[in-house]
Amino acid sequence: MNIDDVSGDLSAVLLTEEQITARIAQLASEIDRDYNGLQPLLVGILSGAVMVMADLSRMMRIHCEMDWMAISSYGSGVASSGVVRILKDLNTSVVGRHILIVEDIVDTGLTLSYLIENLKSRNPASIEVCAGFRKPDRARKEVKVKYLGFDIPSDFVVGYGLDYAGRYRNLRGLGILNPAVYS
Ligand code: IMP
Repeated sequence: MNIDDVSGDLSAVLLTEEQITARIAQLASEIDRDYNGLQPLLVGILSGAVMVMADLSRMMRIHCEMDWMAISSYGSGVASSGVVRILKDLNTSVVGRHILIVEDIVDTGLTLSYLIENLKSRNPASIEVCAGFRKPDRARKEVKVKYLGFDIPSDFVVGYGLDYAGRYRNLRGLGILNPAVYS
């Protein structure tokens, strides 16, 4: 789906597909350099991270493995509940593995900080985070994001994996959702 297909639902276009792809390519080279010979386990957080994971992993030149977790977050609303629950756990053991969590967006940071603590308790060799986007002004928990696509404003955004009520995930760029759509 292109920006033009839903332009009436967006109050602004924040990032085009080209801008996002170029940045993800840079992150992929950094990860290649940092994890050379380590075969990291990329842990994608469903469902928002599917686009970042698909692009990042294919742009990487080193071997990696992929696994997925599903965590409860916003449901169909636009405000953080702060309630974190694992809906689907990993299929893989992470003991001694180099984990790279792949996330769509860091908003309050509540989801990621919970997840990092949870995965740390399983004795991996290391844990780092790669996120497509981050809203720095909304942070409620400090989370270190080693590989970050873009810092963005605090507005509710859709596209590139991010949804509102299940829609817009397949939008190629990233846009601010017009509040008229959810109010
Ligand atoms: P956090 O726990 O507040 O950092 O939020 C984590 C999750 O909320 C993200 O992984 C997204 O799935 C969702 N989320 C946060 N901000 C947005 C947004 O602007 N649009 C769509 N989903 C969002």
